[in-house]
Amino acid sequence: MSNLDHCYSVEDLIKLSKKNLPPVCYDYITRGSDKEITLERNKSIFDSYTFNPKILVDVSNIDLKTDIMGVQSSVPFAFAPTGMTRLFDKEGEKAVVRVAQNYGIPYCLSTVSTTSIEDVAQEAKSANLFFQLYIWKKREWIYDFIQRSKKSGYKGFLLAVDFPVLGNRIKDKRNGQGTPRLKKNMILGALTKPKWAIGFISGGKLVLANLKNWLPYGGDVQKAVETIDNQFDDSLTWQDALDLKKEIGENHPLYLKGIQSVEDVVKAKEMGFSGVVISNHGGRQLDSAPTSLEILAEAREKVGKDFEIIIDGGILSGSDIIKALCLGASSCLIGKAYLYGLSAGGEKGVDKVVNILRDDMLRTLKLIGCPSLKDLSKDYLLKTKNL
Ligand SMILES: Cc1cc2nc3c(=O)[nH]c(=O)nc-3n(C[C@H](O)[C@H](O)[C@H](O)COP(=O)(O)O)c2cc1C
Repeated sequence: MSNLDHCYSVEDLIKLSKKNLPPVCYDYITRGSDKEITLERNKSIFDSYTFNPKILVDVSNIDLKTDIMGVQSSVPFAFAPTGMTRLFDKEGEKAVVRVAQNYGIPYCLSTVSTTSIEDVAQEAKSANLFFQLYIWKKREWIYDFIQRSKKSGYKGFLLAVDFPVLGNRIKDKRNGQGTPRLKKNMILGALTKPKWAIGFISGGKLVLANLKNWLPYGGDVQKAVETIDNQFDDSLTWQDALDLKKEIGENHPLYLKGIQSVEDVVKAKEMGFSGVVISNHGGRQLDSAPTSLEILAEAREKVGKDFEIIIDGGILSGSDIIKALCLGASSCLIGKAYLYGLSAGGEKGVDKVVNILRDDMLRTLKLIGCPSLKDLSKDYLLKTKNL
């Protein structure tokens, strides 16, 4: 029996992930910015709601299918874009996209992925793929990503709008992440996890795969860090986002990822974007940013039921997803949850996460007496009173 067989929750997978990964890599998934107030609140906000269950309802026929960014998903969540995924498992993005394809769940590839746009598409030819963009100073790189994604059959784009500058990730700084040279603690940490180290070496050099052709040293991650940090453009405005939308064209939707206020959700709708992801980047950017749940219900009220609002941040169970849907989310993204699965057991670990979340959602819907996702509403929730 594999260790994964003894995992019954994402928390169990977190323990396995911690056991498998060198501390630097585990911290890179787990930790947040500054005092990590937002990181912590992302999780605790879900616990501040209890359910308001209905009894004696026929819940024998529940379907979790949901439309996400214009494609059908078997469950109301998609895989969030995460950079450097091959740090956590030698197959990285390829392992995740295979699970995405198997279950019919959309997958968003990060600009700073360690497998290229083309290789991900090749690995899972019938997966629904989306590409996450930044507007970098070098606009020609962005236009290249757009053309390549379209050519490889990606269905749409997410623009990360919460990144005028990298958040203050203190633990990563202490760990030497983001500096161009390997530090002693990184090498020592890797030596304590020989299985990971062997996998890492056998997986080939870690590169920013989408940038290979643009960088003189072939996208080598260690060397590319400074180049990338210098690319974030703090002069961007809504007009730049609109220009990008025009560049992408009518046939591919563009979602703004990293919206953090009700006003900006309304503005995104007014300006004609396909939808938004309310997100604080998993507590890795602005500390003391609001959690998605705090602004979701008001945002939904303001934009009406048809505008697509996806949320992310802190989701570790199916019941968290159901609470988000009750408050008006169209669907959710999961980030850390699947990375823990990946580092706990590669493709099988990601598969395990999907099953845990799916079973949780089905069980929760039955226990709260809700026969279908479309019936979810605030009526199924109570704000927890201090006990
Ligand atoms: C290790 C890691 C790397 C990430 N890299 C990116 C990225 O390259 N682009 C991006 O838009 N978001 C990135 N994110 C943020 C996720 O897309 C998502 O917003 C966040 O993880 C959601 O919160 P959760 O991890 O609590 O589920 C990253 C998150 C993690 C944990």
